[in-house]
Amino acid sequence: MGFLEEIKRRRTFGIISHPDAGKTTLTEKLLLFGGAIQEAGAVKSNKIKKSATSDFMEIERQRGISVSTSVLAFVYKNKKINILDTPGHKDFAEDTFRTLTAVDSVIVVIDVAKGVETQTEKLVEVCRMRKIPIIVFINKLDREGKDAFDLLDEVEQKLRLTVTPLSIPIGMGYDFKGIYNIWENNIQLFEDEQKQIIGKKKQFQSLNDPELSKIIGLESHTVLKEELELIDGVYPKFNQKDYLKGDLHPVLFGSALNNFGVEELLNCFIEIAPEPLPKASEKRIINPNENEFSGFVFKIHANMDPNHRDRLAFIKIVSGTFERNKPYLHVRKNKKIKFSSPNAFFAEKKQIVDISYPGDIVGLHDTGNFKIGDTLTSGEILQFRGIPNFSPEHFRFINNVDPLKSKQLHKGIDQLMDEGVAQLFTLSLNNRKVVGTVGALQFEVIQYRLEHEYGAKCSYENLNVHKACWVDTQNIDNEEFKEFKRIKQKFLATDKHGQLVFFADSSFSLQMTQQKYPSIVFHFTSEFKN
Ligand code: G4P
Repeated sequence: MGFLEEIKRRRTFGIISHPDAGKTTLTEKLLLFGGAIQEAGAVKSNKIKKSATSDFMEIERQRGISVSTSVLAFVYKNKKINILDTPGHKDFAEDTFRTLTAVDSVIVVIDVAKGVETQTEKLVEVCRMRKIPIIVFINKLDREGKDAFDLLDEVEQKLRLTVTPLSIPIGMGYDFKGIYNIWENNIQLFEDEQKQIIGKKKQFQSLNDPELSKIIGLESHTVLKEELELIDGVYPKFNQKDYLKGDLHPVLFGSALNNFGVEELLNCFIEIAPEPLPKASEKRIINPNENEFSGFVFKIHANMDPNHRDRLAFIKIVSGTFERNKPYLHVRKNKKIKFSSPNAFFAEKKQIVDISYPGDIVGLHDTGNFKIGDTLTSGEILQFRGIPNFSPEHFRFINNVDPLKSKQLHKGIDQLMDEGVAQLFTLSLNNRKVVGTVGALQFEVIQYRLEHEYGAKCSYENLNVHKACWVDTQNIDNEEFKEFKRIKQKFLATDKHGQLVFFADSSFSLQMTQQKYPSIVFHFTSEFKN
């Protein structure tokens, strides 16, 4: 197969949802359909249960699992499908945001009974802003839930998506009979009372076919006809162009647990979902079909073995081919590096691979060369954009408990920050180090890992910060800026790249500061240049 065909057949996407909506179950069912696994239960859920906040063994166990489920690849109908795993736990939301920089599309899973939940809202907002094509899968139709049309409304309003249903359930919960597939124009029903056996798909010439009443009952048949009429009249017709632009969002219904609607989702997905997309660098847009290799690091995973401090850096290939033992330029370090054992991912296993194509993810063993967001190329000096840091939600001073281990502590903190576990700031006033995290759980993870992987001990002290705002320093020499720096010195810090950050202790003080210094621009993500 030629280079261009290899690109065309790749589909790299993420599944996002609020915890418990059924992401793991759906992933597993997709793998089953793809023949990548033989039995259910092979993919372990990597969600950290709420109760596990102080259960470090649980955290460690989950880290082990999440290496093997970071990328799940399989071939289905000659398409190479790469599913990028996203942690569901809200404390790891930043991990998910970063993973979303490496996907070309997403599937959002929504629980039919719970509807749109908070975590889904946040994640979809990021996708919407980036115009990532989204398919919505409404799951657990075998349970009592909300009315299909109410859910479509909810998705439109809460997620601000323009939807077009591509299937519609016949009944729900106890009365769930099956699904009418608008996309394939057929109907599929359970064959038995226990809802274990899914019947063959049936195609009808017309919706008025009396055979339909016989199969699903007159009442359900009448409702189905009315619903399809309503869909026809109210929702825009699906067209791939608008979906690919991120302007129209197909919705499918199903039950992952019962295998209902999953194959249909997969068939629809491979037909409409985008192949690897171009990506913006600071210099120019890079197209996947360019001959020269380029890619970027979107995730770093520490090795589980504390005696070997090597890590796996996950690279999304943007253009060209990535080949084993070929030297590539690490742009930030301006250094050529060869990789003798790049890992590709297949189902839940990883294996050494000689050549990978745009859309693929390779895992590179790393002894501390990489940071999240680093770019690798065949030689061109460019830097991919789009992996910003967001303001953390929690801030604490970090102190060294064992003065004899200060070197280990610094090294540990540096490496954990490169992995993206948290963000480190240095207060301008006294050089004290502040750790900022998205969730409280990370503080415990850091403390645990510093001790077990680096032999260093730390303690924390609370710091009252509402938001970290990156300050645009273009006008640093004007009088207003000088005054701002003098008056607010106590609240100023630098991030790990040396960018100036203002710690606002409340939304009110942020507002007051903005009013008082109108020429200073504050940003809520670290990537605001260009
Ligand atoms: P997550 O990754 O999004 O967090 O969700 P996960 O797939 O782990 O699913 C959460 C729970 O919902 C699981 O039950 C799972 O079996 C169930 N589930 C998933 N899809 C469906 C569906 O279509 N119908 C029904 N009725 N249930 C579904 P659990 O009891 O929490 O876990 P488990 O013991 O079954 O693994």
